Amino acid sequence: MNMCDSDMLDSVLSTYGASKVDNLLDADVVVLNTCSVRAQSEQKAFSYIGRTEEFKRQNPDLKIVVMGCMAERLGCRIKKRFNSVDLIISAKNIDNAALKIINSCFINNAVKNERFDLKSEIVRYVTIIRGCNNYCSYCIVPFVRGNEKSLDYQSLINECSLMVKNGAREIMLLGQNVNSYQYGDVNFSLLLKKIASIKNLDRIRFMTNHPKDLDDNLINVMAAEPKVCPHIHLPMQSASNKILKTMNRKYTYEHYLDLIGKLRTTVPEISITTDIIVGFPEETEKDFEDTLNAVRTIRFDGLYVFKYSPRHGTVASKMADIVTLEEKKRRHSIVLKESNKISVEIVSKMIGSVQKVLAEKINNGVIESRARGGRKVFVKGSKDHIGKIFNVSIKTAKINSLLGDIV
Ligand code: 5AD
Ligand code: SF4
Repeated sequence: MNMCDSDMLDSVLSTYGASKVDNLLDADVVVLNTCSVRAQSEQKAFSYIGRTEEFKRQNPDLKIVVMGCMAERLGCRIKKRFNSVDLIISAKNIDNAALKIINSCFINNAVKNERFDLKSEIVRYVTIIRGCNNYCSYCIVPFVRGNEKSLDYQSLINECSLMVKNGAREIMLLGQNVNSYQYGDVNFSLLLKKIASIKNLDRIRFMTNHPKDLDDNLINVMAAEPKVCPHIHLPMQSASNKILKTMNRKYTYEHYLDLIGKLRTTVPEISITTDIIVGFPEETEKDFEDTLNAVRTIRFDGLYVFKYSPRHGTVASKMADIVTLEEKKRRHSIVLKESNKISVEIVSKMIGSVQKVLAEKINNGVIESRARGGRKVFVKGSKDHIGKIFNVSIKTAKINSLLGDIV
């Protein structure tokens, strides 16, 4: 989501003549886009903001902008603590970020030109729904990003079409919960079908899904529409029904398992990834074992595991955070180890297979591409391959990437 917001900002700023620089010391403006989802994300941002004081000593004209969820949550504190910060743009004001930056950082020399969206990346991100209404008890997102709001489907289609015209071949649709997209009569499945009808667009991906809202309709569209890639990110969080209930996730493990079954039956080549939180308040060893067993049963293609981090203002932050950090670390590393083992087994079986990949970029003669399931594939090739789809025979497999030769 933040990458998408940064991309959007980049597009708009470029119409005012701004361009990205490789070296920070060449910059007139530095924009830090921040995340509040865990305490660790905020600590990283704090330490980075601290470093900008040094850049400012070297270039006193430099402007520092902090935007995003942390700006929403801690804007005043940031301003007080860091003299170097010139502008704070909170997450709820992200739509106006570019104008705010232009007005306060470029005052005299910004000239708008009419050529919008000059970027020519192969893969582009498009936010279709902002905010979230779910209030999972651990999560800060509804507080910092506000209520759910689906964007006008016609403008989304126009935006995607423009991106394709400018060279995009794959579009990733984004939202905290894409499954609850609803604009007039258009729900998420219908939106997918409409976007799939854009000529010259080859691939569509989307994330994130909520198990309580993922319906058969969507699974059927995934099966029927070849442009929709067979990958789903379906956060499970926990496999203990007691914990799912206190997390306010509104589904049971049995329901989750049922969805996995349907997905695998209807879209046989599907790759499934998930998010897991360990050490949630009141997570006993038995609850943790349930989650670990689910990881073994479901055999995810990949997963992200997080140590529970209390976020001020959330319901869970008022519960006793009884699992010690030591224990959180232990559970975290057990899940990670188990899922890595499974991922290695899954990718090893891909050796010798032929994968249809889309080439995204090239570095020293090596193309970075992605298979339909979402895995990165590296292959020798030339610039002419970029933006094209071709078959690769897989020779080597690592946890997060495959290597092969063009067929
Ligand atoms: N602590 C730990 N992990 C969290 N996530 C969200 N909030 C928290 C929190 N307070 C994780 C969830 C979510 C992912 C984006 O981040 O697993 O799916
Ligand atoms: Fe947070 Fe839950 Fe909304 Fe995801 S669905 S953003 S975890 S409140």
